[in-house]
Amino acid sequence: MSYRMILLGAPGAGKGTQAKMLIKKYNIPQISTGDILRAEIKKRTILGKKAKSVMDKGGLVPDYLIIDMVKSRLSKKDCVNGFILDGFPRTIPQAEALDKLLIDLGIKLDAVLNILVTKEVILERMSGRWMCKCGATYHIKNNPPKQEGKCDICSANLYQRDDDKEETVLNRLKVYKQQTEPLVDYYKKQGLVEDIDGELPIPEILKSICDVLEK
Ligand code: AP5
Ligand code: MG
Repeated sequence: MSYRMILLGAPGAGKGTQAKMLIKKYNIPQISTGDILRAEIKKRTILGKKAKSVMDKGGLVPDYLIIDMVKSRLSKKDCVNGFILDGFPRTIPQAEALDKLLIDLGIKLDAVLNILVTKEVILERMSGRWMCKCGATYHIKNNPPKQEGKCDICSANLYQRDDDKEETVLNRLKVYKQQTEPLVDYYKKQGLVEDIDGELPIPEILKSICDVLEK
């Protein structure tokens, strides 16, 4: 089956972790605007330079930059059988632009999965998160790599994200509440929102997402 979905949820809700498993299960790509921006920063592109200062403070990169980025990504061939939007849209203007783009492409979303996690759990998750350049995500306690500091998939050295400092995480949470949470109501009006308990063990969350999609 092919699915077109949005993973909505606060920073650290587990969007990336679930997306990596959904890619394998449904053979559809993950479109993570955060991952695309981090790759641009690494390549030192103009977009990367513009994004870095905003991301380091936990703010949002301007809508027009993000919308252009997603437009070109969604038009690629690998998206024809579905996709997982992770971290996009994040503002009402982004959601409106996505609606227009989907109309142009003649496609519809199947679900908006609203992954719910409390603030305390988020802070604990971010402080223990370790990432790999291949996109894999680990947690020092909850989801450790087999060998400390090394990726299970590609063996590269793991690193911590610059914006996972507590002060920055608190700002990201504030920005989420103000700018992204209103999307829950936006998509409720379209009848697309499905709440997912994000505090369950990782495989159980995957199961609840798949149950929702396949029902
Ligand atoms: P982005 O990269 O999208 O960050 P985010 O939304 O803050 O989300 P995270 O990636 O931090 O969390 P996640 O939900 O993916 O959780 P994860 O699976 O890693 O964006 C970064 C920045 O880029 C933004 O702040 C902004 O500046 C900019 N940006 C990006 N998109 C933008 C847009 N559309 N518009 C404007 N600006 C944009 O899990 C977290 C940790 O928890 C991991 O360690 C994991 O192992 C662990 N974990 C996961 N699930 C569980 C579980 N069930 N139980 C226990 N531990 C778990
Ligand atoms: Mg992520």
